[in-house]
Amino acid sequence: MNNKADNSFYLLTDIHYVSKNKWVEGKPINNRERGDQIALKSSPEIFEAFTEKILADSEINTLVITGDNVDGGDVLSHEEFREKIRALKAAGKNVYITVATHDYCSTGEDECCFHSACRYTETGTEPIPFMRRNELFDFYREFGPDQALSVHDESGSYTVKIGEDLRLIAIVDNGNGRSHCGLFEDGVEWLKEQIAGAKEAGDYVLLAVHHPVIPPWDVYSHMVDYEMYGGYRELWNLMWDENVRVIFTGHTHVQNIRKLENDAGNWFVDVSTISLANAAGKMRKVTVDTETGMCDIKSVGIEVLPGTDTGGLSAYEYLYTRNFPGIVQRILPLASKDFDEFLKQAEGFLPVDKLAGKKFLVKRIANILMRRKLSSLIRFGRSGKLLSKEQKKYAKAVPLTDIIYEILRHIFTGNAPYTPDTVENIVLSAVCRRLDRLVEKLNVEKVKGMIPPGSSLNEMAQDFLYNTRTGDDDSITVQLIK
Ligand SMILES: [Fe+2]
Ligand SMILES: [Fe+2]
Repeated sequence: MNNKADNSFYLLTDIHYVSKNKWVEGKPINNRERGDQIALKSSPEIFEAFTEKILADSEINTLVITGDNVDGGDVLSHEEFREKIRALKAAGKNVYITVATHDYCSTGEDECCFHSACRYTETGTEPIPFMRRNELFDFYREFGPDQALSVHDESGSYTVKIGEDLRLIAIVDNGNGRSHCGLFEDGVEWLKEQIAGAKEAGDYVLLAVHHPVIPPWDVYSHMVDYEMYGGYRELWNLMWDENVRVIFTGHTHVQNIRKLENDAGNWFVDVSTISLANAAGKMRKVTVDTETGMCDIKSVGIEVLPGTDTGGLSAYEYLYTRNFPGIVQRILPLASKDFDEFLKQAEGFLPVDKLAGKKFLVKRIANILMRRKLSSLIRFGRSGKLLSKEQKKYAKAVPLTDIIYEILRHIFTGNAPYTPDTVENIVLSAVCRRLDRLVEKLNVEKVKGMIPPGSSLNEMAQDFLYNTRTGDDDSITVQLIK
């Protein structure tokens, strides 16, 4: 019988590690951080906090990292990051790594949009050496390829054994760097062979890849299909046909577990993990019982940031203000009260040049939002008859902005709280239904184009109001099949 620890691993993704030597305090790094909407400046402390947890857990010997290891392809951050994972290896952990499009800069041979790496000075940027795509394989080969049962030369993908009866196929899906982030033909054949090989050997198999295979919400693939794993529909068929039940992904920076079933009843789940550099970043803790084939997936976050004075705040509270929801929560009141400060704080995050000329409109919208309660939407959505007296009283007390912040907060962390029985869901769904009718009646082509076929604004909204997926974005147990 296997030792449980042998069939377990932690999975981290989108670390976006930024060396402290890559920036000095100033507008340029802060704008970059706001633009990326993750806590870039604290990425070393965040990674350290997670590695401390990993080192403290003697039960789990393996760590899988699925790309966007650094933020801007610079050699400096890569080298520092590699030293840290070498230390984990020296402490007895197996570390398996793949790379993604933030890990290199293009030299013009593909569509990757990063063309140079930079250091952020007080007033601007200066170029620093960057990693080329063809250098990444050798740079990280000690973390996966050197231990692999098989390596796919063209992509750098590989298969490793995790425990006696379990294999992980780590796919490197850099493709052409932008419009096709997937494997090419030869890679697809290699992947098929790897799955077949695992089955022949009697091993369970898990897949890991950077780009999403099932979109976190249908609107994602509808609007930005190129952000999906290139060839994802083909991969759906392969996973259904071969009964591969779990694929781990990143890239969206969203905590999300979604299941996809075909007409024959075959299914798999895409376990998308939030960026580690998000305020509420989490890693997955995966354990496979190879006696029964049960794959248990849980999530682990951090409470503190090593070496950082957070003024008594938790890591999440401290970092929250640097992420998209936290920024909105900070600048929305400013838009109504102090427009110049609003523009200052929004720099790097919103097109401030354009907004500066629309002071009156922006202030007015912010004022309306700041003053309104949830009840102000009841009339428009005609939801009064759906609510009890108590629920109406509640709606009168809840500021609309509280709901906006809460929805935004959960876009990345998953598990939004507004289930269909809540007043918030009843009122907002009614608003969306009314909007759906108006869009149809007035034939608003622009809005119609944003709605996935067969869906509606109301259906789209549900994905962001509560967990319409597998019920818990943090945890799932899946029966694997050999
Ligand atoms: Fe990322
Ligand atoms: Fe990415």
